[in-house]
Amino acid sequence: MAIWGHTADGTAVPIYTLTSGQVEVRVMAYGAHLVSVRAPDRNGKMADVALGFDKLDDYLKVPNPYLGAIVGRYGNRIARGQFTLDGKTYQIPVNNGPNALHGGPKGFDRYVWQSQEVPGGVEFTHVSPDGDMGFPGTLTAHVKYTLTGNTLRIDYSATTDRDTVLNLTNHAYFNLNGDDQGTILNLKMQLDADKFTPVDAGLIPTGELAPVAGTPLDFRKPEIIGARIDDNNEQMKLAGGYDFNFVVNGTPGTLRPAATVVDPENGRKLTVETTQPGVQFYTGNFLDGTFTGRHGVQYTKHMGFCLETQHFPDSPNRPDFPSTELKPGHTFHSTTTFTFSVVK
Ligand code: BGC
Repeated sequence: MAIWGHTADGTAVPIYTLTSGQVEVRVMAYGAHLVSVRAPDRNGKMADVALGFDKLDDYLKVPNPYLGAIVGRYGNRIARGQFTLDGKTYQIPVNNGPNALHGGPKGFDRYVWQSQEVPGGVEFTHVSPDGDMGFPGTLTAHVKYTLTGNTLRIDYSATTDRDTVLNLTNHAYFNLNGDDQGTILNLKMQLDADKFTPVDAGLIPTGELAPVAGTPLDFRKPEIIGARIDDNNEQMKLAGGYDFNFVVNGTPGTLRPAATVVDPENGRKLTVETTQPGVQFYTGNFLDGTFTGRHGVQYTKHMGFCLETQHFPDSPNRPDFPSTELKPGHTFHSTTTFTFSVVK
């Protein structure tokens, strides 16, 4: 552990380095961010494969693109920032056009979490008070990062003292070429998803679960990410690239494959498994060069991809979607693993 810096109010921010085999991961207490991941290619050449900043100060800027952040209390969008729970309507301040995104303007990514070293990693804890960003109930959230072999595992858990809703995920942007090596359009990806949740112009789900078959969202077999990104497809045009929640095949609650991404040139491979019902595949469509990351590189469109394992967007308004409600006396659990290997 080291102190990486301080927030404006003087709070110290610990940063932790996890090493195992050839993978090295750094995580910090501010926003429980995944700061960096260094992984080898097929020749053993190491590179940073997750986008990030050199200094804590860059993470403190608002707004920022959530590079590696834990987003909450409700990751992704809630239509008009509104939902009804137990007959009462709640309003989350909107921060993405008419909608609330990633928990509203001051989400979990903007707090220094408590931290505790655990075998193989670190557990971060954040207590969000009743009424925080409009959400009901005091929510205690834990995010545990552990590294075993080449696998980074993130375990999420949470409890509440009143009925509430939650959706916790990690917003890491990966680039298997290396974080200073241009776009991710050359990477080959396979998604274990037969369906996705189509969206409207505000990227709010219409409620339908639509087949990916016959669309540029069909990654059931490995496909180059950039191959169909400019296709004349109504959904792709709305999102300006990929920015969709895919329904992960299999049974939510069981750890099962969600995605595999391979760099055909250098052999790096990322495998994602999750217990969550969905995964948001986002190709950094809104990265516009405003932010300069590590190695002095300006982050422009498509320089990273996110695989945000999650509950479906706007679930509090969609009784047909897997429920995001949490009640007192129950503990929310989810697990996602990111494994960094190589193909020969
Ligand atoms: C969303 C994007 C959004 C981005 C912000 C992603 O989770 O799907 O629409 O722009 O987060 O960084």
